[in-house]
Amino acid sequence: GFSWKLKDHPKLPKGKTIAMVVLDGWGEAKPNQYNCIHVAETPTMDSLKNGAPERWRLVRAHGKAVGLPTEDDMGNSEVGHNALGAGRIYAQGAKLVDIALETGKIYDGEGFKYIKESFANGTLHFIGLLSDGGVHSRLDQLLLLLKGASDHGARRIRVHILTDGRDVLDGSSVGFVETLENDLAKLREKGVDAQIASGGGRMYVTMDRYENDWDVVKRGWDAQVLGEAPHKFKNAVEAVKKLREIPNTSDQYLPPFVIVDDNGKAVGPIVDGDAVVTFNFRADRMVMLAKALEYEDFDKFDRVRFPKIRYAGMLQYDGELKLPSHYLVSPPEIERTSGEYLVHNGIRTFACSETVKFGHVTFFWNGNRSGYFNPEMEEYVEIPSDSGITFNVQPKMKALEIAEKARDAILSRKFDQVRVNLPNSDMVGHTGDIEATVVACKAADEAVKMILDAIEQVGGIYVVTADHGNAEDMVKRNKKGEPLLDKNGNIQILTSHTLEPVPIAIGGPGLAPGVRFRKDVPDGGLANVAATVMNLHGFEAPSDYEPTLIEVVDN
Ligand code: 3PG
Ligand code: CO
Repeated sequence: GFSWKLKDHPKLPKGKTIAMVVLDGWGEAKPNQYNCIHVAETPTMDSLKNGAPERWRLVRAHGKAVGLPTEDDMGNSEVGHNALGAGRIYAQGAKLVDIALETGKIYDGEGFKYIKESFANGTLHFIGLLSDGGVHSRLDQLLLLLKGASDHGARRIRVHILTDGRDVLDGSSVGFVETLENDLAKLREKGVDAQIASGGGRMYVTMDRYENDWDVVKRGWDAQVLGEAPHKFKNAVEAVKKLREIPNTSDQYLPPFVIVDDNGKAVGPIVDGDAVVTFNFRADRMVMLAKALEYEDFDKFDRVRFPKIRYAGMLQYDGELKLPSHYLVSPPEIERTSGEYLVHNGIRTFACSETVKFGHVTFFWNGNRSGYFNPEMEEYVEIPSDSGITFNVQPKMKALEIAEKARDAILSRKFDQVRVNLPNSDMVGHTGDIEATVVACKAADEAVKMILDAIEQVGGIYVVTADHGNAEDMVKRNKKGEPLLDKNGNIQILTSHTLEPVPIAIGGPGLAPGVRFRKDVPDGGLANVAATVMNLHGFEAPSDYEPTLIEVVDN
């Protein structure tokens, strides 16, 4: 039968303290002025790269290597941390929704049948991120669902949009809204009363994560459910164009708006008897709204009105909480993650990041599972993030504090694995502020140094890697790799992640002398890291894990 017990590694010892450092959004790209990692002073990461060549390499962090539909899909933190922690490649949300739509199975599922009960008398609302970024949602999936829902009897549809500019270029929101409007017009021609009802920028409206700032969700609630917002427009394309003219705003940060009719009345508040679908497949930035929509008891903000609705998520966002209880597509079943194995094999684990990435090194790392496997063996520390600011204002974020916590955990010798996520290069990279991103990269590098110094002191081992690229390329490029200019001759800033591979470095005084990266897994990706780390803890990885990146040669 099944056993959690891992076999001893034939050559590698147990009992070494391992620092597992994930630099968020730290890819490897050609050195140039838009490569903030190259521009920044990063002596620690440079020394790893320029050190022993058999202990530094690149791994794949995008596309199929992390379970995304195509090789054109950039990496992201969800799939990256899933792969790092689970050691296997799972078809991820984006792909599972594609299949469910292609086969039509989505319409036979429990979730769709449930919301369908509202079609006769209620409105069907969709809420989610409107872009083709493919990180949290995809516009083409929404368009298919809109058509599918109307084919299956929805007569009145309202869409509540969240503009992106973070996984896609800033300014692209206008085009996405036009595309959506086009499809809604087609539905209206078929007699379906379909229109956009509200909107706002994803970082200011609805899509907070890890409970950093409930005001963000509240602003969305007021617009989507109550039909109240500071800005009112008759038309969503006009809304987005006008709101973008506000100084210092961008797609990510558009203020909330509602669409009103000729009498100034909101066209689509959510009321008793309606159905709601949140069409993001990714959990972290939808689960807070899911709580507000589903929980009878809720004290995070005053909902004013709690409509009796039928609510389904595109996916179930939290398997432990079973939230939402209805969903259109079943999430990937990520089981037997490396974290769970290691805890069963006596590895005492410490994990830490600041709020905005805390769930990445815990929830995502552990296969979308919240909480501890065994509280006696694990400690997860969350350092509160600054809220209400864009991180280009504080590009150092909490890197130092995270590193100090990791250092203390390492020096305490109470843990066998000390795992952190350093958010800087990603969170500041997403703002598109190149200068601030350079500062961010330097701060992350300093944090790595502090952790490596602690590992040196205890005779431990370090594994330093990243979950996907971001800060290494801040400009949109054409197929030839040349920077693209906008109408005014300025470069087009790339706020999103990239398709680049990420580095992985191993070392430290505890690393057995013969350990080196194998040459026979040239296509290795993030999913190969889990087996590698298990080996470094002195264990063989389970046979169904992606192969280890290391071998031990006798010298
Ligand atoms: C976000 O949610 O901030 C971005 O869409 C993706 O960033 P992450 O995958 O690094 O969290
Ligand atoms: Co990111």
